[in-house]
Amino acid sequence: MSMLKSLEQLQAEGEAALRAIASAAALPDWYHAYLGRKGKLTEVLRGLGALTPEERPAAGKAGNAVKEALEHAFAARQDALREAELNASLASGQVDVTLPGRPVAPGHLHVTTRMLRRYRDIFAGMGFQVYESPEVETDENNFGLLNIPPYHPARDMWDTFWVNDQVVLRTHTSPGQIRCMKESHPNPIRVILPGKVYRYEQVTPRSEHQFFQIEGLVVGRNIRITDLVGTMREFANQMYGQGRKLRVRSSYFPFTEPSIEIDIDCVLCKAAGCRVCKYTSWLEIAGAGMVHPTVLRNGGYDPEQWSGFAFGLGVERPALQFHGIQDIRYFYTNDLRFLRQF
Ligand code: DAH
Repeated sequence: MSMLKSLEQLQAEGEAALRAIASAAALPDWYHAYLGRKGKLTEVLRGLGALTPEERPAAGKAGNAVKEALEHAFAARQDALREAELNASLASGQVDVTLPGRPVAPGHLHVTTRMLRRYRDIFAGMGFQVYESPEVETDENNFGLLNIPPYHPARDMWDTFWVNDQVVLRTHTSPGQIRCMKESHPNPIRVILPGKVYRYEQVTPRSEHQFFQIEGLVVGRNIRITDLVGTMREFANQMYGQGRKLRVRSSYFPFTEPSIEIDIDCVLCKAAGCRVCKYTSWLEIAGAGMVHPTVLRNGGYDPEQWSGFAFGLGVERPALQFHGIQDIRYFYTNDLRFLRQF
């Protein structure tokens, strides 16, 4: 039999065998038998060597055409069988396509993160950059260079987690002021320093031993306390609503002179008196002051030429007040029933 005849016969046989296959699981065997490396097509084509050079091109071409036709028929049969099997399993109810999918629970931002972002957006609008500094700090940055020498009574204001004799978990974000000044000198500065701080304190409904602060620092020529108060007023209006009343009280911090504390009229009771403002109608929002000359000098700025203001804002307590949350400990105990409310 001529080779062309054999090829023709092989194609017909292969196609018939494909049609006879009833399940997709049997398809690989067919492929192996007809198109595999040791399959029937290979066997027929082995006869090419015995042909005359004149016969060979036509036979080779026919061989390729048969191979292509069989590959094509195989793919079509495979598609048809798979679809039929899927339909059958759907029809028999093995797969219930009406079953609702499993819900994917999307996460959302933590109430503290949202608060931090609000602060950042407000201060960014006033031209402040964000300066980040480490949570593990030297005793020197956390205290000494902020004008709180060893044995200074002001150290009692911060109960400290010590890492070793000279290293602490920062008790406030203020040491970032020193780092920022050293890095920025001799340029003017306008930054906020957000971050986590640590205090070795009793945990109560009002105080945690880890919490966030946002420090502010501005250093320039002729910076005055009215600039500080104006900045705080603008901040309060944006954060707590326009037309806030501001109250400035004198205070003491070792790193500022003069030092002040800033209150706003209570947002919750509209200054009528309530539990949150402890019936004073005022809420404290910040400790602040003019950067102490010694601190400016420690940061590399000559206090004869430069002046600046600084402030420290809380994060969790204002959030407590905003949302009427009773206990600060809820923030970091990861109870989803709490977190999902915000
Ligand atoms: N570091 C102070 C604290 O943790 C807060 C503070 C007060 C920061 C006054 C300041 C400031 O920058 O000027 O209690």
